[in-house]
Amino acid sequence: MKIVVTGGLGFIGSHTVVELQNEGFEVIAIDNLSNSSIEVLDGIERITGKKPLFEHIDLREKAAVQDFFKKNNDIAGVIHFAASKAVGESVENPLLYYENNLNSLVYILQELTNLPTANLIFSSSCTVYGQAEKMPITEDATIQPAMSPYGNTKQIGEEIIFDVAQVTNLNSVLLRYFNPIGAHPSAEIGELPLGVPQNLVPFITQTAFGLRKELAVFGNDYPTNDGTCIRDYIHVVDLAKAHVIALQRLLQKQNQEKVEIFNLGTGTGSSVLEVITAFEKVSGRKVPYKVVPRRSGDVITAYANTDKANNVLGWKAQFTLEDALGSAWKWEQKVRS
Ligand code: WQD
Repeated sequence: MKIVVTGGLGFIGSHTVVELQNEGFEVIAIDNLSNSSIEVLDGIERITGKKPLFEHIDLREKAAVQDFFKKNNDIAGVIHFAASKAVGESVENPLLYYENNLNSLVYILQELTNLPTANLIFSSSCTVYGQAEKMPITEDATIQPAMSPYGNTKQIGEEIIFDVAQVTNLNSVLLRYFNPIGAHPSAEIGELPLGVPQNLVPFITQTAFGLRKELAVFGNDYPTNDGTCIRDYIHVVDLAKAHVIALQRLLQKQNQEKVEIFNLGTGTGSSVLEVITAFEKVSGRKVPYKVVPRRSGDVITAYANTDKANNVLGWKAQFTLEDALGSAWKWEQKVRS
């Protein structure tokens, strides 16, 4: 079974390629290398013993997408990760986000729905919920107006998939990730943020390693136990495994609706200070930090109700926050060695 993974050399994409290969799938990774490196292919091969096929394609180029699907019309499914994903950058450069995240999806769908079967797993995000009223967040929680162009591209992407599925052979699963962190236990692949990390955990590991002077904690005056924001941090390998299960659901035509939605989280919320404390415990390293003003666009609290993924997908996160932080630290040390 040939599976296409767009953004296949990226953080979540590469971990999903590993899990697909572990399940015996033939994988074609597509990536434009704008936020990943070709060496990731070697890391994947060191883990699974098999280098995935690789196509260096920018999915914004419609002709390149058409050409790829013409040559690969026996694809069983597509897992679509390729997108720009920095919230702050999306505010500064919305057109980059609308062109990249939406055109790529449209071009893929135009070709995919011309094939005999059209199965798509879509990388969505808990960002679509904004600040949900009720915790833990269920899949039927209200979709709030997006707080960034990045979040808007995820909301619009979901709507495009719904509309296309109504009138074509498309079957799709939308996976709404909470906060993916960590690295493969082998430390052969992991998160490779370019420049100054935007996300909490890579900033912590780089600070612990001495690459950053100290962590800035964006506000401790929120209405939470310790005043810092709460998130649901999920190990990237747990997340990757969920993609394979969701794909198999479509391949075996077990989906109950043409488009299904699942939250992917641990179901547990952790504050920024709790993450720092947990990291210091697993790494034995201090993380110097200073509290600074709040970051605009941050929601106060977001953690998942995982009942649907547990009961319908038969998937449950296995790794703990400490496991994930320990794997992130092991990766940081490896990649700097
Ligand atoms: C987590 C918490 C920050 C950095 C974003 C996207 C989401 C997904 C994951 C792509 C917040 C605090 C952070 C720092 C800090 N991305 N923080 N100092 O914003 O929850 O989610 O990344 O799919 O779509 O929205 O993740 O890791 O940036 O922040 O205090 O240097 O850590 O304020 O409370 P976020 P994050």
